[in-house]
Amino acid sequence: MNGFALAGPLLRRLEPEAAHILTLWLLRHGVFPRLRRADDPRLLCRVWGLDFANPLGLAAGFDKNAQVMGPMLRLGFGHVEVGSVTPRAQPGNPKPRVFRLTEDRAVINRLGFPCEGLAVAATRLAAFRATPAGRSARLGVNLGKNKDSADAAADYAAGAAALAPFADYLVVNVSSPNTPGLRALQSRAALEGLIGRVRRALHDAEVAPPPILVKIAPDLGPEDLADIAAVARGPQVDGLIVGNTTIQRPPTLAGRHRAEAGGLSGRPLFALSTEVLAQVYRLTEGRVPLIGVGGIASAEDAYAKIRAGASLVQFYTALVYQGPGLVRRIAAGLSARLARDGFAKVAEAVGADHR
Ligand SMILES: Cc1cc2nc3c(=O)[nH]c(=O)nc-3n(C[C@H](O)[C@H](O)[C@H](O)COP(=O)(O)O)c2cc1C
Repeated sequence: MNGFALAGPLLRRLEPEAAHILTLWLLRHGVFPRLRRADDPRLLCRVWGLDFANPLGLAAGFDKNAQVMGPMLRLGFGHVEVGSVTPRAQPGNPKPRVFRLTEDRAVINRLGFPCEGLAVAATRLAAFRATPAGRSARLGVNLGKNKDSADAAADYAAGAAALAPFADYLVVNVSSPNTPGLRALQSRAALEGLIGRVRRALHDAEVAPPPILVKIAPDLGPEDLADIAAVARGPQVDGLIVGNTTIQRPPTLAGRHRAEAGGLSGRPLFALSTEVLAQVYRLTEGRVPLIGVGGIASAEDAYAKIRAGASLVQFYTALVYQGPGLVRRIAAGLSARLARDGFAKVAEAVGADHR
């Protein structure tokens, strides 16, 4: 067993947030192996006119402060989503605020956007983009709001203006369950106002707008989803991320922390988030690129998201339980499934379940 394989069991003995801080340190110091991404032409994707080496991305929340983009891309991800970044630095909620539900292969978190703020993220992103690896990297930047901010739209506008120069796409995250009032921004009127402000800020700052995505909760009902789909089909929004953690607690949960407040991620989120993804794909008639996130833990799961309508997919919680080798395993397994079913490219399989 190499050190790489030993790290997981050791990390899982630590308190979850301490384990995460140590993981970031190990990644920054090059302790994890530098694996060359095995580029596979079948996995190449073109979305928003951008080329992605594969459809697999690191979901937001892992690299909140833009510290480990290079190391995560070297594990085999085709893109990394940084953030959520809030305009000013803030501490987030009191600890403990992250809980493993090991039996369920799940996590509950109520971090509440702990963040070093825009200026730190901008400095790190600029430094990374100045390197050869950074220039060719596909990076999303996910924007949040400060807890004590009275003007949410001003926060997203400030984030967009500051970080768009480094982002292949921007995410307006209105779906974290741990910032009071945030999810109310998913209503049609609020969302249109918000995206309008973000676009004006980019225009005023004379920054070319990257694709602008909205990340939604998997807890929205059919009417809310229809409203969001209507906004997404308009000219202001370029894509949707479906979706964030859930505030639901499936009755099957067995982990002793299952009653903790916060957002649930990992395996118990898979069926719910994939169903919502399929609904959004139908509502947008396959015309809006979707990123499928929630409970992906295998190549089969990633493939199911793509067939349900995702052009790209992301994951986070499964890395906690399966370690960094998972990225390559999913890439290889996905390629094998595409080949088995006669798809020459990922794009041919997107939405296949609806045909
Ligand atoms: C500890 C933790 C922190 C997260 N922080 C963020 C965040 O800052 N912004 C965001 O949009 N999503 C955040 N997420 C949600 C993930 O990006 C993802 O949508 C969710 O965990 C479902 O994917 P998974 O089941 O593969 O983890 C976080 C998730 C976890 C587990």
